[in-house]
Amino acid sequence: MTSNIEALKPKRPHPFTSDIDLIVVNRRTDLQSIVEALVEGEIVLVKDFYSTGLAILAELKNYLKAQSSEENFKGQRDFRSMFCEISQRLLLPLKDNKIAIRKAPQIGWLKQLYPDISEFLLSFPDVQGLNSSWQWYEKGIMMKVIKQRLHPFYGTYFPTRFEHLELFANWLKNYNGQKNTAIDIGTGCGILSFQLLESGFKTVYATDVNENAIIGVDEEIKRMNLNDKLRLYYGDLFGTLDIRSELIVFNPPWLPASYNLSGLDKAIYYDTNLFPRFFEQALAHLEPRGKIVLIFSNLAQSSGLTNTHPVEEELSSGGRFKKDALICKKVRDASKKTKRDLSRRKDELVELWVLSAV
Ligand SMILES: C[S@@+](CC[C@H](N)C(=O)[O-])C[C@H]1O[C@@H](n2cnc3c(N)ncnc32)[C@H](O)[C@@H]1O
Repeated sequence: MTSNIEALKPKRPHPFTSDIDLIVVNRRTDLQSIVEALVEGEIVLVKDFYSTGLAILAELKNYLKAQSSEENFKGQRDFRSMFCEISQRLLLPLKDNKIAIRKAPQIGWLKQLYPDISEFLLSFPDVQGLNSSWQWYEKGIMMKVIKQRLHPFYGTYFPTRFEHLELFANWLKNYNGQKNTAIDIGTGCGILSFQLLESGFKTVYATDVNENAIIGVDEEIKRMNLNDKLRLYYGDLFGTLDIRSELIVFNPPWLPASYNLSGLDKAIYYDTNLFPRFFEQALAHLEPRGKIVLIFSNLAQSSGLTNTHPVEEELSSGGRFKKDALICKKVRDASKKTKRDLSRRKDELVELWVLSAV
C-alpha cells in the first residue's frame, strides 16, 4: 500500500495571473534598455519570439559579468544569485497549455501542472527549467545500475553522475544479510529503491519530503508494475512509517545550507538538524542486527564549506552507532565542457558508510 499519494499536488513554477505592471518588449526593442529596466526592478514581458527572451538573458549575463570583479567561488555564487533574481522578472505568456509566442518549445508539463488555468504568465527561467525537465522525462535516463530507464518527474532530484550508485551496487552484490525489507529515505527519482528491488529485497519502503519525487516514483511503480513491492510515503525522514527493517539507506544532501531551504534545495543542502534527527529515528526503525548505509561525499570539506562531517560527528559523539565499513571512490573528472566548479570537484570522493547499532 502506498500512503496518501492521491491527495498530493505537485509543486510547479509560480503562475502570474493577476494584473501586474509590466513592460512589453519584442526583438526590435533595444536590448540594453531592457536589461537596465530588469536590473532596476521592472517586470518585462516578451511578446514575439522565444529567441527574444534568450537574447535578453544573454545580454543580462554579459551586463552582470562586466559588473562582477571576483573570479573566485564567492564571486561566481554572487553572480549566479543576482542572475537568478533578476531573470525571474522576465516573463512569457502561456495560453491553452502552450507558450503563446513564436518558435517556442512544446512542453508537456504545462498540461499536467496547470490543468486549472488557461491563460497566465511564467518567468523565462522557469519555462527553461520546465523545458529541460520535460526532455529528461520524455527521453528517460539510463543509469546503468538498473535495467530500466527512469523518467524523473518535474522538480525531482536525479543524479547525473553515477559513481555513488556504482559504489552502492557493488556493496549490494556482497551483502549477505536478510532481504525482507529495506527503507530508502529521500528516494528522489527512486534509483536506490529500484537497485534494492533488483538485488532481491522483497519490499522497499521509500519516503521523500518532496511531493514531486513521490508523485514521480508512483508513476514509475505503475509503469514497472511494482505495486506491492515499493511502498511510498510522503513526509519528513521516516514520516509515518512504523516498521523496523534490516537495511536503511539514505543518500542525503551533501552540502551544509546557508539559508532556509525549500523544494529542490533540500536535495542538495542540509540544515544542522537533519543528521541528528535522522540518526535518532533510524535507531527506532532498525532491526537489532540491521545496517544503515549512508551515501555521502567529501565535497563540502574539499571545497572549504565546512570542517565537519555529519556521519563522523554522529560516530564520535552520538553513542548510537558504530562504523562497520567506509568505502570510497574517486569521482571521475567532470566533462571539459563543464567549466563551472571544476577546481572544487577535482579531489572529490564519494563515500559509502555502513553503520550498525552499538
Ligand atoms: C541527494 S538526493 C538523493 C535522491 C536519491 N535517493 C538518489 O540517490 O538519487 C536527497 C533526497 O532526499 C530528500 N530529502 C531531503 N530532506 C529530507 C527529509 N527531511 N525527509 C525526507 N526526504 C528528504 C530530497 O527531497 C531528495 O530527494
